[in-house]
Amino acid sequence: MQKNRRVLLASRPSGWVSEANFRIEEVPLRAPAEGEVLVKNLWLSLDPYMRGRMSDAKSYVKGVDLGEVMVGQTVGEVVESRHATLNVGDTVLTQLGWQLYGATREATRIDPSRAPASYYLGLMGMPGLTAYFGLKELGQPKAGETVVVSAASGAVGSVVGQLAKLWGARAVGVAGGADKCRYVKHELGFDACIDYKSGALREELKAACPKGVDVYFDNVGGEILDTVLTRMNLFGRVVVCGTISDYSSAEPYRVRSWRAILVNRLRVQGMIVFDWKDRYGEALKELGGFLAQGKLRYKESVVQGLESAPRGLIDLLAGKNFGKQLVKL
Ligand SMILES: NC(=O)c1ccc[n+]([C@@H]2O[C@H](COP(=O)([O-])OP(=O)(O)OC[C@H]3O[C@@H](n4cnc5c(N)ncnc54)[C@H](OP(=O)(O)O)[C@@H]3O)[C@@H](O)[C@H]2O)c1
Repeated sequence: MQKNRRVLLASRPSGWVSEANFRIEEVPLRAPAEGEVLVKNLWLSLDPYMRGRMSDAKSYVKGVDLGEVMVGQTVGEVVESRHATLNVGDTVLTQLGWQLYGATREATRIDPSRAPASYYLGLMGMPGLTAYFGLKELGQPKAGETVVVSAASGAVGSVVGQLAKLWGARAVGVAGGADKCRYVKHELGFDACIDYKSGALREELKAACPKGVDVYFDNVGGEILDTVLTRMNLFGRVVVCGTISDYSSAEPYRVRSWRAILVNRLRVQGMIVFDWKDRYGEALKELGGFLAQGKLRYKESVVQGLESAPRGLIDLLAGKNFGKQLVKL
């Protein structure tokens, strides 16, 4: 009988995730039931939200139970079908999580001739959609305005800054380290990028945004958020997309610049990408169009094999990824 390999949540981390929080097991492969497809996963997406799912704290989606397969999106190939509209050989997007195979009725056909299959986990998938709707609907940048985005070299941030430029705004990135900043400025085409690890964030932000900040797309929270708040313009918008600087800490960071929201009449709004699920088609059309015209650049950070997934997530949460983090299965 054919076997499946999968990664389970073995224990909940307190603080930083470690490899001991996961267990790999081999089980017999379950045949698809009526209405299901059997999918061979080719790519697994690793995303910061997975840290939250490893915890049992209340959030917008329930966490993974102990002993359950780790959650995650995959791109795979249909190898057996009892589904009405999906056929053997189709490339599909699934929620099968950290495993080599899976039987499911929830798979969406994707078109690998439009973009490489792995892009449907990044630029043409959840992170790209997050960038698109967060910036367009909540950030609402106008031509000539200044948009600042943190984690600027990453899956979401890299798209935010490039869309800001395409929509006529100035884009300023914040990223960790000289290499990431060079990439953001010279390859992604942002107007400037600030290395927050250089120790001069406040001064460099002032120099890079001489007219202040109109939109801050916040992927990280913490001290970077606190600093950018002090540079916001009147009626500026803050898109609260992620707080990765806090995901592994026991105590959440306490923002000191709260008063800037009052003084500058800022609009600060949290976002979850699922809120726009009825409009994903519209965003994918525009993102796919920009990609086809060579107007969007994109980078992937790939680890090899299912066994590397725990290390890949640990490194992602520590900022060691450079671009969208994936596992090639
Ligand atoms: N709300 C939603 O619907 C939604 C959807 C997708 C993603 N998100 C959020 O968006 C953010 C980015 O996600 P992504 O998938 O695009 O990941 P990513 O940017 O590709 O990777 C995460 C990056 O976060 C940065 N980082 C890690 N620790 C940090 C710290 N202490 N301070 C500052 N930066 C730190 C690192 O970049 P540097 O080396 O540059 O620091 C790291 O490369 C995350 O917070 C994620 O949870 C939210």
